[in-house]
Amino acid sequence: MIGRLNHIAIAVPDLAAASAKYRDLLGAHVGQPQALPEHGVTVVFIDTGNTKVELLEPLGERSPIAAFLDKNPSGGMHHVCFEVPDILAAAASLKSGGARVLGDGTPSTGAHGRLVLFLHPKDFDGTLIELEEV
Ligand code: CO
Repeated sequence: MIGRLNHIAIAVPDLAAASAKYRDLLGAHVGQPQALPEHGVTVVFIDTGNTKVELLEPLGERSPIAAFLDKNPSGGMHHVCFEVPDILAAAASLKSGGARVLGDGTPSTGAHGRLVLFLHPKDFDGTLIELEEV
């Protein structure tokens, strides 16, 4: 079902500091910060050639990554995102296999303007998995 790894998302407490480390210490191609208020994050994309790293900083009062950063104040890996060709088929297959889709169980429009859904981390060894239709 899943295809290539689309991105790895890392929640960070200080986006400017994290971006500088990736650029200056790791020599990565670091993009400009993009505020995504509808998703409650400001994001910086890092293109590593075979995939992307997304640095996420909370934006606004009800950021979906605020609780994660409360538990992990120095930041940490938040989720991994795999591509799927048909997200409705993926959701149906996962639910019939016993995996929990977060939210109301239906895909929503993600940070890249494509349909996404998230799978419960307790069903996948403590890792939050995002699926994105590509
Ligand atoms: Co993501």
